[in-house]
Amino acid sequence: MLEAFRTERLNFPIFKEKIQLSSCSQSAMHVSVKEAVNDYFRTWEVNGMDWKGWMQACENARLSFAKMINADKKEVAIVSSVSHAASSIATSLIKNNRKKILVTELDFPTIGHVWQSHRDSFDVTFIKGKENDWIDKEDYNTMLDENTLLVSTSHVSYYDGYKQHLKEIADVVHHKGAYLFVDAYQSFGQCEIDVKKMNIDMLATGLQKYALGIPGIAFLYIKNEIAQSLTPKITGWFGQRNPFLFDIRNTDYADSTVRFDTGTFPMVNGFAAEAALKVLNKFSMDEVEKRLQYLSGIAIEEADKRGLQVKSPRDLERKGSNTAILVNNASEAESRLLKQNIILSARNDVLRIAPHFYNTEEEVITAVEAVADFTTNL
Ligand SMILES: Cc1ncc(COP(=O)(O)O)c(C=O)c1O
Repeated sequence: MLEAFRTERLNFPIFKEKIQLSSCSQSAMHVSVKEAVNDYFRTWEVNGMDWKGWMQACENARLSFAKMINADKKEVAIVSSVSHAASSIATSLIKNNRKKILVTELDFPTIGHVWQSHRDSFDVTFIKGKENDWIDKEDYNTMLDENTLLVSTSHVSYYDGYKQHLKEIADVVHHKGAYLFVDAYQSFGQCEIDVKKMNIDMLATGLQKYALGIPGIAFLYIKNEIAQSLTPKITGWFGQRNPFLFDIRNTDYADSTVRFDTGTFPMVNGFAAEAALKVLNKFSMDEVEKRLQYLSGIAIEEADKRGLQVKSPRDLERKGSNTAILVNNASEAESRLLKQNIILSARNDVLRIAPHFYNTEEEVITAVEAVADFTTNL
């Protein structure tokens, strides 16, 4: 383990007692994130209110996020969840003769729910992959046509950690004149995302998974040229050029993606986000990704040794941190392992072992052993 990772691990108190490998659901708590949330309450208690300081924390988080994905600050909106971000896009798209929205079956269900609620405006079609639902660029190419307005997909699958090559997908999507929307909730914080190099049009993520934060705040990136042409329908005073004009009769949307801001920011969550991104920014995402590929390799090898069935891709370049193991009664296994102080996350028929940079090889091995014990003692 890199010395810097080892040192940072000391700031996650949970590792004194427990093995937490649940970054696909909730990453471990860093002391500075807790401190930041406490700071919000401290300023409230002592100063009565501190609108300027509270807003600034959210703005700092927005700037950090923008830098991390190589976007401009004005290309990022502060929203409350990924569902909110997808709904904002769905309601703001300009209706033209392109009516088709393609959603992949590896997307998190909330994305399907959002788009399906707009069936009165769009033809929503799902893309299914051939092998294990793993979609490749040919699958996109086959489904895209001149009626496609937007393709919605996930960078990394919440279920089995399948990781897509976003630049390749963007090329296919743009060749047919459609937009690409990426749900990066399962990738942001565990690997590099460069929206310019990858040529992504729209991207959303929350902070609770690999980004070391808490729920209640999320970010929406929309490429400047596209954002300028969109009129948000989920909106509010902070989406205006000057919220403090208090002009009830007129709308004057803010420049670029900031127009997708809505009401008062989720300030407590903004404090947590600012602190969480500061921790992540101590490291290069390339080093984090390499570390997680190494831990992935160990998880797969240990699972193979014990005859467990791995649902995740074996090619480490095509997989995120999450190694999903097929388990009967996965949610019961999650509860049982919790009693042994091992925190994993179940989804349907799999248990997900999802380390972050702070986890050790030994923790991954112990977790796989515990999963194997559970399956043999069923
Ligand atoms: C890939 C992905 N997208 C979206 C969500 C849900 O996002 P939200 O609750 O912020 O709408 C999750 C939650 O687990 C997820 O893993």
